[in-house]
Amino acid sequence: MEGHGGYNRSSRVQAAGLSPAVPLLEHAARMVTLPAEPHPIVIADYGSSEGRNSLEPITVAIRALRKRAGSNQAISVMHTDLPDNDFRVLFRTLVNDPNSYLAGDTKVFPATVGRSFYEQILPANSVTLGWSSWAVQWLSRAPAQIPDQIQVAYSEDPGTRAAFAAQAAADWRTFLIHRGSELHANGRLVVLTMAVDDAGDFGYRPVLDAMYGTLVKMVDENFISADELSRMTIPTVGRSRSDFMAPFAEVSEDGRFANLIVEELEVFQGEDRLWAEFQRDGDAHAFGSQWAAFSRASAFPTLAADLDGGGKDPRAAEFANRLEAGMAATLAAAPERTLIPLARMVFRKV
Ligand SMILES: C[S@@+](CC[C@H](N)C(=O)[O-])C[C@H]1O[C@@H](n2cnc3c(N)ncnc32)[C@H](O)[C@@H]1O
Repeated sequence: MEGHGGYNRSSRVQAAGLSPAVPLLEHAARMVTLPAEPHPIVIADYGSSEGRNSLEPITVAIRALRKRAGSNQAISVMHTDLPDNDFRVLFRTLVNDPNSYLAGDTKVFPATVGRSFYEQILPANSVTLGWSSWAVQWLSRAPAQIPDQIQVAYSEDPGTRAAFAAQAAADWRTFLIHRGSELHANGRLVVLTMAVDDAGDFGYRPVLDAMYGTLVKMVDENFISADELSRMTIPTVGRSRSDFMAPFAEVSEDGRFANLIVEELEVFQGEDRLWAEFQRDGDAHAFGSQWAAFSRASAFPTLAADLDGGGKDPRAAEFANRLEAGMAATLAAAPERTLIPLARMVFRKV
């Protein structure tokens, strides 16, 4: 993700998309077994980025937990992300944002873990309530280059599609195995992530077309090379309902995997907030700019890492500016609704 507050500023699409999962987190907070004092209640936030989109769900969870635990029991909030995440912005957000869950509660203690969630990163049996939004669609690695696209969902190459599907299946199992270790008995994990809908549609078509089209133009203009474009990959996947269920269906007869059972799983369409705003105000320029800013904050650092000089390539800043401007103009010229297939899930540790 883009650092220096870029993700916090340009993640309103994600904020809208995650909100249908917040009631599931609130319900989970009412159901989990609480550790006895003086042990703290532990909330883990897997893939927090710069933290702004975690404020609402964690506030709701804390409010529900406080109703049960009273005002004295310590609550630890462990925000986890990759080591290069901008944790400085996250801490500032927690301290300065008027909507921070820290406001008015002196017994809440945030901390961070800078490690991949494809490992065990918190002590076994320590987590009361887990939350992860818009994060586990990121694979642990890109298993292949995509010859004809930057996003595998729109590649026509069967070998590439198969390699990504295998990586997605393995990563999903790995994620669940480690969360199954970290949760304590009767703890819950609530996950919101990108999905494919029942027709197999990954969505984001206009946005990805604008991105790929602008990159091809940058090759035509000799700003980047064809080799650089061929390396560029966004290693995210949308999983289907049956992909999410596969570990539970295949491995055991009693529907358990990694000591977890599925309490809820729903694939739904996220709100395209930017399209709704365009329909209200008719501002095509704002529509294009906001989708381009969303893409910049979420995906451009990953693409820039494949420039010959990596993220520190002297063209990296101009690369991002040109790509954003090209996408904004393309999207503003023909505004279209974007499909945003998402999944919301609740797992219980048994
Ligand atoms: C799109 S942001 C989501 C931020 C926030 N949770 C939200 O809902 O807006 C995805 C975050 O997941 C993180 N992420 C991706 N792969 C990860 C991994 N293997 N381990 C930990 N965090 C990861 C990224 O670094 C990024 O900060």
